[in-house]
Amino acid sequence: MTPIYSTITDIRTAVAAERALGQRIAFVPTMGALHAGHAELIRLARSHAACVVVSVFVNPTQFGPTEDYARYPRTLEADAALVEANGATVMFVPTPAEMYPPGCRTVVDVPGLDAVLCGLRRPGHFRGVCTVVLKLFNIVRPDLAVFGAKDAQQSIILTRMVRDLDLPIEMVIAPTVREPDGLAMSSRNRYLGAAERAVAPQIYAALRGTADRLTAGERTTGVLETGLRQQLQLIPGARVDYAEILDAESLTPMPNTTRPMLIAAAVFLGTTRLIDNIVIR
Ligand code: PAJ
Repeated sequence: MTPIYSTITDIRTAVAAERALGQRIAFVPTMGALHAGHAELIRLARSHAACVVVSVFVNPTQFGPTEDYARYPRTLEADAALVEANGATVMFVPTPAEMYPPGCRTVVDVPGLDAVLCGLRRPGHFRGVCTVVLKLFNIVRPDLAVFGAKDAQQSIILTRMVRDLDLPIEMVIAPTVREPDGLAMSSRNRYLGAAERAVAPQIYAALRGTADRLTAGERTTGVLETGLRQQLQLIPGARVDYAEILDAESLTPMPNTTRPMLIAAAVFLGTTRLIDNIVIR
């Protein structure tokens, strides 16, 4: 089995041993409930480095007070098997007390980039993400870290953080892994009831439809956004949180479509909030 360490001291010792062998260290941070999307990240990490560290930590500081921290799925045994099967070297599974001992205060903010999309609707979310990821980076000290394009805003913000803070870490962004019907894989998909699961692929279908309209010549983002929102509102039981087209790097609105752009949506199906996106280059 892939060894699992739960203290900062132990994971540091394990990674230091790999580094002493001259191995490149790749890192895949996760919150567990691992699925084929995470597996792809681990395989991609493995293709870049002989040593792959996978962390599993449901990070309390990135959940809002009314969000799903307590009921977030915790499936460590299955996670360990998936990590092992995909060739990771070590797992780091700390407790909240290990990551946030009493007195811990320092936080990391990336202002501006967190003021739109998920950041606007989940105040403090990206502060929690950036803070925990920087801590994990400092604990593991990887040469390279892999994140998923599924969480587009997260990847953009963390890439900015790495650049702004001069972290010597190469950021690799992996494409979104989908179910055969198009639904983006997510740990939260297991919350969906049968009826919700049946309509969930329509989120990606609506994003695709918008991308197709764009490539067919519709260049006014306002028109495309309105069309996307209408499509999403037609999904039975859906409540649209946002449907937006933004510059894929700066996350600023773009009146016309000359640069890479992010078509992004967040939709509630019942109490489950799903996000997905397409980037057009
Ligand atoms: P989590 O949601 O577990 O995701 C871990 C990584 O897997 C993220 O980089 C995410 O973008 C990627 N991922 C999730 N679903 C994917 C899919 N269908 N295809 C490709 N990649 C996918 O994101 C987090 O955890 C946390 O915010 C974390 C970065 C670990 C900080 O706590």
